Amino acid sequence: MDTKTSHLIDASIGQVFTPLKWAEWLINRWSIFDAWLDGAHICDPTAGQGAFALAMLHIAQRKGIAITPERLSRLTLIEIVPSHLERFRQNVKQEFGVDFPDSQTFCQDVILEPHQKKYDILVGNPPWANFGDLPTVYKARVKPFFLVEGLVPDRQKMLLGSSRIDIAALVLKVVLGRLLKNNGFGYFYLPTSLFFGDGAHSGFRSYSTRDSRTPLAAHRNFAVDTVYEFTTTKVFEGVNTSYCCAKFQGDTRQSFPVTYFRELDRKWVEHKALPLKNPADAWRVVQNLDALNTGATLEVSLSPEQMPRQGVNTCGANRVFIFDGKPSHLPEAFLYPLATKEIWRQPASLPCKWILLPYHQQTGKPLTWHQIEQCDALREHLQNAQDVLQARKGTFLRSAINRGNWWALLGVGPYAFAPFKVIWEAYGKRQFNPIVLDSVDGQVWQGNQAMHAFIPCWTEHDAQRVKTALENPEIPDLLRQLNGAGKCNWAQPGKIKKILAFE
Ligand SMILES: C[S@@+](CC[C@H](N)C(=O)[O-])C[C@H]1O[C@@H](n2cnc3c(N)ncnc32)[C@H](O)[C@@H]1O
Repeated sequence: MDTKTSHLIDASIGQVFTPLKWAEWLINRWSIFDAWLDGAHICDPTAGQGAFALAMLHIAQRKGIAITPERLSRLTLIEIVPSHLERFRQNVKQEFGVDFPDSQTFCQDVILEPHQKKYDILVGNPPWANFGDLPTVYKARVKPFFLVEGLVPDRQKMLLGSSRIDIAALVLKVVLGRLLKNNGFGYFYLPTSLFFGDGAHSGFRSYSTRDSRTPLAAHRNFAVDTVYEFTTTKVFEGVNTSYCCAKFQGDTRQSFPVTYFRELDRKWVEHKALPLKNPADAWRVVQNLDALNTGATLEVSLSPEQMPRQGVNTCGANRVFIFDGKPSHLPEAFLYPLATKEIWRQPASLPCKWILLPYHQQTGKPLTWHQIEQCDALREHLQNAQDVLQARKGTFLRSAINRGNWWALLGVGPYAFAPFKVIWEAYGKRQFNPIVLDSVDGQVWQGNQAMHAFIPCWTEHDAQRVKTALENPEIPDLLRQLNGAGKCNWAQPGKIKKILAFE
């Protein structure tokens, strides 16, 4: 085993091990075992405890095919956590009575450290973790690679919106660029967000990477050939992310549509996948290409101030800002009705929750401390929570806190105080149901974080016009094609912005 490598990361980054049965399933689906027998060199670049290599050996054993040194010399495992490789070697010894060759296991970081060999086939399951959730020290080390691989356009974007980008996107680009022989293939279990995530994953959908071992770090294309999306089968127990497996071909330009199998009633039903408009856009999935007659964008005339927005985000301080019922000890001028699911069931319903926004309605800016001091109850309430509020995380919020406004929230601007909102449930739904909300006791309704999205309107007439336009049945059709039904990104503002032709 190569022991030169440092143990750079915490032993728990993105570890979702593939059950043996499902490693075998993927190997059989794409005849990887036969390719191995025919002489292919195969590598799992983030091998964990070696589920895919073990699966190959099990298939060989079942078929009565000898596990020869030559065959073993064409199976390679790369893994950052040494004990995983150790466990793999013990398992091979125990189950097959052979010593897996040291020369074929590499304890190394496949992103940060160079690897000398290239392979005909890459197979596996890259780590599943958002960039934002990586340990701070490791984040700093891999950040340049996200930039180099074009996964985020610049450092600023990396700090801001792109922390949701999955490290699987980076690992895939790195291994397809550096470890694959010419015209080789890659087969991986993956989060479907790589194909359907808006914004944060469009950098992955350049379908191009780099081979940093060539003198000019030459660009290499890769193409997604086929995808299988699991909808009911639990390949990975306890994982909430939606996932698929995909076949990639190196040194091939991406073409569309991609053959896309979706699991429906336990059967694989063939669909076609293609980007919404531009090649790097999130995919639409349709069973029949005729369904694409639905336009990809809808003309709704909106002013720049009417960008779709998410609701207010307390950044983890709901207990300070959100109340069941209207609190009598706080000034009414800063309390607003907060949307909850009840208002979609019964549109005329009274607010169940209220939210405290210590903000100027006209400017959408936080009150100054001097202004807060004018109101004892407000000052006392905020001061009692000062430590909690100052400890909140998040780049945007930190910059407000660093300016001294530790009572700030996210998602508050002049738009939050527009007298009307055309608002819809944006998270985890299957129906798109925009409604118009105005005010209660003179205070306008607010949306709650990612649960709700809205378009601000300044007259009732305009709000009704926008609502009517959003009631176009093509919108939920498109949202379903964009694979968001029941998922967290069902009708988030970024997606609606694309559909409404905002750029
Ligand atoms: C999702 S698990 C999959 C493991 C194995 N392929 C399987 O399917 O069971 C990802 C593995 O990648 C390893 N890993 C994470 N970052 C890595 C890196 N930069 N280089 C190599 N391995 C890494 C983790 O320790 C983990 O074992």
